[in-house]
Order: sequence, then structure tokens, then C-alpha cells
Amino acid sequence: MTHKTQSVAYPYFVVALLLFGLQVVMGLWLGIQYFVTVPQSVVDVFPFATARAMHTNLLVLWLLLGFMGATYYLVPEETGTDIAWPKVAWAQLVILSLTGVIALVGFFFGWTQGKPLLEIPRPLDVLVVIGALMFLANVGMTMFRARRWTAIQGSLLGGLVFLAVMYLFGMPFYRNLAEDWYYWWWVIHLWVEGAWELIAAAMTAFILIKLTGVERKVVEKWLYVELGLFLFTGIAGTGHHYYWLGAPKYWLWVGGIFSALEPLPIALMVWDTWRDVRHRTTPLRPRLTWVYLVGMVVLHFVGAGLFGMAHTLPQVNYYTHGSQVTVSHGHLAFYGAYVLLNLTFFYLAIPRIKGFRDGEYDERSGHLGFWLTSMGVVGMSLAFGVAGVLQSYLERYLGQPYMVAQDPIRFWMAIVAAHGVLVVAGVVVIVKHLLTLRSVTVQAA
Ligand code: HEM
Ligand code: HEM
Ligand SMILES: [Fe+2]
Repeated sequence: MTHKTQSVAYPYFVVALLLFGLQVVMGLWLGIQYFVTVPQSVVDVFPFATARAMHTNLLVLWLLLGFMGATYYLVPEETGTDIAWPKVAWAQLVILSLTGVIALVGFFFGWTQGKPLLEIPRPLDVLVVIGALMFLANVGMTMFRARRWTAIQGSLLGGLVFLAVMYLFGMPFYRNLAEDWYYWWWVIHLWVEGAWELIAAAMTAFILIKLTGVERKVVEKWLYVELGLFLFTGIAGTGHHYYWLGAPKYWLWVGGIFSALEPLPIALMVWDTWRDVRHRTTPLRPRLTWVYLVGMVVLHFVGAGLFGMAHTLPQVNYYTHGSQVTVSHGHLAFYGAYVLLNLTFFYLAIPRIKGFRDGEYDERSGHLGFWLTSMGVVGMSLAFGVAGVLQSYLERYLGQPYMVAQDPIRFWMAIVAAHGVLVVAGVVVIVKHLLTLRSVTVQAA
């Protein structure tokens, strides 16, 4: 850590990690309901849809808080100055956390806008916008005052502004359902396959520079290529969600072709990291941060690139649309690309914020947590995938009713839940490890 105000990142990481724990517990509860018949009295009070809204909104909230904390850590080092208004950063965290708590309690009482992943009702949206504006103003002012621009900052700020603007399209009420879905995808797709990829590229470039001391020019050259490709393929690729919602026919072509190109920039990232790792003669230290980084790059490619590609052509999506195949891809992509990105950053930043150099803490439970969680999510996604293919065949090809098809799918959902237990255990280990990181020398004393 080079600047005092960077430490405001830490409370963001703490809140994010606690919400991560709650998110996966909710996930497990959802998974169990696919093979255990829950008593009607429980369903009446706490329906599946409510738990699902909590699971997914917690995911989005903690990932965003993680990105914001990472930004507050990263920007001072890139610009060479302190955060413009550290107190505003604190206030923003309080506002966003409170909004999150109110939203969760609200969901419980059925207060929801109904759009998946964006169930937060309109009055709370306003609070989110206020928090986002405080954030952008703070980051923008810090960069503006410093007057030192790097490609990392540019990509990060671009991604953050893009993210905030897209959120606005999900807020209005559209009378026409087709229109509602059309703009819903501007948020969901253009977030994870546009804005968030810019943020991820910037954070990854920063992490690589810090870990390897590699020349900035080398990393930045790739950043430009990847960013260009992400925007080129990701924006037109939105069409892979317009196949069946009443949009014009040409989207079948545009969506199919451009989204099929989307794995390209992600593969470039894998190749780029591999090139970097292969040429190193010095050992990769701290080992744990590298494990998370390489895990992220690989699972980002598999989950988003390969699993995304598998159902992106209209000829395939016709059968798999909205099935457990989608859920399989959703889990592995979110985990590989953004959960692991956040965790990698936390492992980079927290030891530095706490003031001991990396490598001086006991890494062991961090490794255990990584493998438990990653094996759990990979196994869970494979099981969701089998359930999804079965579902597509039974429902869409044989034309079986939903509940009839559920019977043979049940077994695979039990496998999902078994892996969910591994995920929850792994997340508990990681959260505990990150929140109690201590310098080894201090421990010995
Ligand atoms: C890293 C951890 C996790 C991430 C990133 C994650 C992400 C997600 C996402 C993005 C969705 C929405 C999927 C869609 O709309 O297609 C979802 C739903 C769901 N998740 Fe998770 N989840 C995680 C952990 C878990 C765990 C541990 C379980 C336990 C089995 C679980 C079970 C479920 C279930 C059953 C659904 C609902 C699927 C449906 O509507 O049929 N998740 N999760
Ligand atoms: C990190 C990046 C990505 C993340 C986090 C992600 C996540 C998700 C999630 C959560 C959904 C389900 C939305 C819902 O219906 O509730 C989804 C749908 C979809 N994704 Fe991705 N995705 C990513 C990248 C990609 C890429 C690169 C491709 C294509 C190559 C792709 C192809 C698709 C398709 C075709 C659907 C629609 C599935 C359907 O029709 O039901 N995704 N994605
Ligand atoms: Fe998409």
C-alpha cells in the first residue's frame, strides 16, 4: 500500500465477503428444493422465487462492492495520489449496504420489481443510483486532480461509467413485455459481457503488474487489443438474447455470429497470461495469489467462453433456452470470471493493506478454500448441465410437461446439491482465512 486512503477498500472487502457467505447458503437452500419436497407451510412463508432473488441479488451486490473496493485500492496507486474524498467512500458503503439489507427484508415480504437479478424495487434503485454517483464522482475527481492517465485507469473508469449507465435502462416500467426483456438484457448482458469485462481486464492488468513487476507497456498493449475485441463482439453479441422475445429476425444472424466470436478475447487473455507465466524463471510468489489468478483465467474461459458458446447459436438455443443448461453456464461463468477475480484481488490487496508483505502469512487454508469451492462449482455446473440437456430433450424434443420431466432430472439435482455443500464449505474457509490474515512473524511472537 502506498497511500493511506487506500485502506478504505478494506471495509468494502469485509462486507463483500460476508454477503458472499450468505449468497451461497441461499444457493444451497435453492438446490435442495429441487430434490426434496419442502412442506407447503414453508413454501407459503419463504417461496423459491424469494430465495432465488436473494441468492442472485446478493451475488450482484457483493461482486459490485468488491469492484468498488478494488477501485479504491487501485486508483491511488495508479494516479499516485490519495482518494479525493475518503469520507464519501465510507458514506457510500453505508448507503449501499443499507439498501442491500432493506432489499433483502423487502423480498421476504414480497416487495420486488420482478425482473430476475434486478428485483430491487424502484425507490431502492434511486438509492443505488445515489451510491453509484458518489462513487463515480469520487473516483473521477481523484483521477482528474492527479492528471496522470494510464490505460488501466481508462479501462476501469470506462467500464464503471458504462456499468452505471446501463443500470438506468433496467429501472423504468415498460408496458410491453418484449420491450421490458429487450432492455433487461442491456443491463444483464452488457454488464457481464461488456462493462464488467473492461473492469476485469483493468484489474487483471493491475494485478499482473504488481505480482510480476512486468513492464507496463507489455500489459497495456494487450489491454487495448482485448478491450477492442470485447466491445466489438460483446455489444453486437447482445443479439443472442433477442432470438425468442419478439425482436426482428436479423438478430438470429447478428446474435449468432457475433456472440460466437466472444470467446476470442477471453482466449486471448488465457494465452496472454500463459505467455507471461511460461517465460518466468523466478518462482511465482505469493503462490496463493497465482493459484487464484490462473484459476480465474482458466474458468473464465471454460464457463463464459466454452459453456457460453455451447448454447449461443440459435439452432441450439431453440432447445436449451431458459433450461438448466443456462443455469450451468451462469454458475461457471460468474464464478470463473468475477468471483475469482474479486478473490484474487482480495488476496493481493488485504496483506498490503494490513501492512505485511505477501508470502508472510500462512497460505494453507487459502489453498484448501480454493480447491473446495472450485471443485464444488465445477461439479455443480456439470450436474446442472446434465440436468439441462435431459430437460431440453424431455421437454422441448419429446414435449413432456414440466413436472413429468422433473422426475428423472431429480437425481442430477441431488448431485448439484452435494457439490453445493462443498462450495459452502470452501467459501466459509476462504472468508475466514481472508478476514483473519495475519503476518506469520506476528503469530509466532
Ligand atoms: C460461487 C457461487 C455461486 C454463484 C456465482 C451462483 C450464481 C447463480 C446465478 C447467476 C444464478 C441465476 C442463474 C440463471 O438465471 O440462469 C443462480 C441460481 C441458482 N443457484 Fe447459484 N450461485 C452460486 C452458488 C450456488 C450454490 C452453492 C448452489 C447450491 C446448489 C446454487 C444453486 C442455485 C440454484 C438452484 C439456482 C436457481 C436456478 C433456477 O432458477 O432453476 N448456487 N446462481
Ligand atoms: C463472464 C461472462 C459471462 C457471464 C457472467 C454470463 C452469465 C450468464 C447468465 C447468468 C445467464 C442467464 C441469464 C438468465 O436468463 O437469467 C446467461 C445467459 C446466456 N449466456 Fe452468458 N455469461 C457470460 C458470457 C457469455 C458468453 C461469452 C457467451 C457466448 C459465447 C454467453 C452465452 C449466453 C447465452 C446464449 C445465454 C442465454 C441462455 C438462454 O437462452 O437461456 N455468455 N449468461
Ligand atoms: Fe449474453
